[in-house]
Amino acid sequence: MTGLFIDGGVPLFGSVAASGAKNAALPLLAASLMMNGSSTLTNVPHLMDVFTMLKMLNALGVRAEMQPGNRVVINNTKKVKHIAPYDLVTAMRASFFVAGPLVAKTGFAKVPLPGGCSIGSRPIDIHLKGFERLGIQHSIEHGFVELKVKSLRGNSVHLEFPSVGATENVMMAACLAEGTTVIENAAREPEITDLANFLNKAGAKIIGHGSACITIQGVAELNGTDHPVVSDRIEAGSLLIAGAITGGEVTVTNCVPEHSAPMLEKMREAGLVIGIGPDWMSVKAEGRYTGIDFETLPFPGFPTDMQAQMMALLTVANGTSIIKESIFENRFMHAHELMRMGAKIKLDNRHAVISGVPKLAGAEVKITDLRAGAALILAGLVADGRSNIYGLKHLRRGYDDLPGKLRSIGARITD
Ligand code: EPZ
Repeated sequence: MTGLFIDGGVPLFGSVAASGAKNAALPLLAASLMMNGSSTLTNVPHLMDVFTMLKMLNALGVRAEMQPGNRVVINNTKKVKHIAPYDLVTAMRASFFVAGPLVAKTGFAKVPLPGGCSIGSRPIDIHLKGFERLGIQHSIEHGFVELKVKSLRGNSVHLEFPSVGATENVMMAACLAEGTTVIENAAREPEITDLANFLNKAGAKIIGHGSACITIQGVAELNGTDHPVVSDRIEAGSLLIAGAITGGEVTVTNCVPEHSAPMLEKMREAGLVIGIGPDWMSVKAEGRYTGIDFETLPFPGFPTDMQAQMMALLTVANGTSIIKESIFENRFMHAHELMRMGAKIKLDNRHAVISGVPKLAGAEVKITDLRAGAALILAGLVADGRSNIYGLKHLRRGYDDLPGKLRSIGARITD
């Protein structure tokens, strides 16, 4: 397996720019399927999942390619096909985001059932119940979800859980429905607001995005437009924690601090000095920070995608921390690898109790999932000696050159 080698114990200093958000770029690309003509997305992160989604769009008959300068031009000039390839959906479950756009645009969609992944079973029942409310019939045959609709009609949709993907899928489909749709208990993540802004630029009529109640008045068609991908709050948070855990001083630019508010609050509570500006945020570690408790919740709660990175930070805090992972059923795998570096962590189903230790020791560790990868790198930055981190494919799926960004602020990482 290819690996990263980190020599720890070096405080990081300097400023580094965050890239566009993976979890915004993916639904934005899927939404472009519904638009006539061409669209241009800018600030698109260079990462494997984006390239997988580009392959998906091309397999569905849409011409989409990454151009120099993090731009993607999508030409939706030909008739869109409606069967999503099995290998692409299983490579990336977010490919299921094409289901709503496809069935809304063509009246039919055949998308492989997205598999679970290491962090959980990742069902799609909330997506399907939402589709049903819009008049979309669904069946699961031979591992494929078949969706068909004769007349897509607006309706009230109550999500039993504020699922990010279900909110996005139903919101996209509702844009081309006859009549008005109200999504209650909608997810409020910034990536949903970004998607709604893109859809509205293309002619959709969406209000309430970013709140728990989103209203969509259906329109006859959407036309391609240009849109910058919102900054990646999870990458920005990971970079900020790198400054904190190494006892340095780091500023992250090209970001939206209010999107990271829940994490910044917890870092302040731990005694870290946080600075924020219109499009930047900074951290300075003055002495040893203290342990804190947090629970992962839907936005605006503490994001589950920052849980692993925060756990890494807390392994060398002064005192004990308690983490409750309330979103995914199996998102503590990084804890076992952190323990190999000397972290003291007790796991009990959805809870992790971390007893801060003065030092971690470099070790050979394996990345189990995307955000675990960032956590192990952060731990390697502070550990004594060398850490060898294997399983880079997870990292490359979700981060735009995280090692390179960290090297630019002084990290000793070779890959
Ligand atoms: C999105 O996944 C993100 N992925 C995830 O980021 C993120 O962790 C998650 O939202 C929560 O914020 C993308 O945006 C591409 P959910 P999604 O539907 O939409 C359950 C990363 O690291 N659920 O909000 O799949 C589900 O099992 C990834 O970048 C159902 O039960 O998340 C989970 O327990 C990981 N039925 C909870 O809801 C459904 O139909 C939250 O899932 C859908 C979800």
